[in-house]
Amino acid sequence: MIMLNWASMCLDPGHFEDPLEFDFDRHITVNPAFGTGPHRCAGAHLARMNIATALRIWLDRIPEFSLKPGTQPVFTAGIVREMYDFHLEFPVGGK
Ligand code: HEM
Repeated sequence: MIMLNWASMCLDPGHFEDPLEFDFDRHITVNPAFGTGPHRCAGAHLARMNIATALRIWLDRIPEFSLKPGTQPVFTAGIVREMYDFHLEFPVGGK
């Protein structure tokens, strides 16, 4: 059995300039987060809609946030890349 690690494709500097740099304006034609080919994620459009809604609500309620100093996000990489240790700081209160 072979498992493709799509997450590693996201880190390929031959495909993506500065792959570890978070870039909202990055233009990509194929998003490997959902796989490619005949088994590309069947829920990709629903997932994108949910993520866009979640981000819109987050940014509306918590526009100012930053990575907690001294911490680094920790990732795993299986079929999907997952972040399981991620500490943010933001002002309490807001909307
Ligand atoms: C951020 C959310 C999601 C990510 C990152 C994701 C990612 C993936 C990846 C990488 C694959 C494997 C492609 C391959 O085997 O080559 C996959 C397959 C699949 N995903 Fe998702 N997925 C997400 C959400 C969803 C949702 C919301 C649904 C359904 C409502 C869904 C349904 C499926 C199905 C049915 C497959 C199997 C497709 C097949 O083998 O033909 N996924 N997904």
